[in-house]
Amino acid sequence: MAGSDNKKAVRDYISRMPSLPVTVSKVLEVCNNPKTSPIDLDKVIQLDPVLMGRVLKLINSAYYGLGTQVTSLARAIIMLGINTVKNLALSTAVIDRFVDKGAFHALNMDGFWRHSLCVGVTAKHLAKRRGVEPTLIEEYFAAGLLHDIGKIPLNNALASEYVRTMALADHERIPLFLAEKRVLDLDHSEAGFVVAESWKFSGAIADAIAFHHTHESYHGDHGDVVRTVAIANYFANREGIGFSGNRYPDKPGPEVYGLLDMEKSMLEEIEDQVQADIEKAKVFLKLGA
Ligand SMILES: [Fe+2]
Ligand SMILES: [Fe+2]
Repeated sequence: MAGSDNKKAVRDYISRMPSLPVTVSKVLEVCNNPKTSPIDLDKVIQLDPVLMGRVLKLINSAYYGLGTQVTSLARAIIMLGINTVKNLALSTAVIDRFVDKGAFHALNMDGFWRHSLCVGVTAKHLAKRRGVEPTLIEEYFAAGLLHDIGKIPLNNALASEYVRTMALADHERIPLFLAEKRVLDLDHSEAGFVVAESWKFSGAIADAIAFHHTHESYHGDHGDVVRTVAIANYFANREGIGFSGNRYPDKPGPEVYGLLDMEKSMLEEIEDQVQADIEKAKVFLKLGA
């Protein structure tokens, strides 16, 4: 297929993808308003009992590890902050749209989600270690969890071409996104950007999806999240945790660590914690089961 045909096939696939529940779009909308109060967010989530149940389940799971049972959503929002609850709601809604729903051709689904969870958990731990403000931490997880979402339309809309793309990346020992550019004339961060647009994602999550492989040229407001996700992605691929089709990942240079004011050794320090937390974060994959 020519590059323009590939782009059209991917755009068509994305336009047919199930949209996010209305409540989640509403959650994103109210949270974009700086004047939103915990009561406003509580009201919106209350409209969707399934979403409310999932958010409470996540907050009370080993993943969140609060150590105390929270049964009221309003209380949870006050305790954890609007931003945290927004990111939990968003992560669970997106996962629900995809887990067990798509036929995975080139990518193996379990491997893909394990990679995604690993990037989310790693990004979150790096943020914590670096002293990022607690209400922002969950954004690092959500951005990491969703960073490769653009691989789903490539994998499903261009199945046989994507198998060839992965074979080329392996054969030439190049990062997958470069092989995608060569074979398909479009990479998963571009496809991810279209998904993010169609679901009206904005801010750090949308930018991490679109720029995690081109972070050197990123000059937006969310460089901290974008670069953290890039490092977490490199880590997950290097360690072979999960599978994302990227055996020869792009390696962030020392300047990226410098911009985040972190030592590379931090990755080794959090390794055991990351492995343990991936198991806990699997709750995200099981909520809809
Ligand atoms: Fe990626
Ligand atoms: Fe990735």
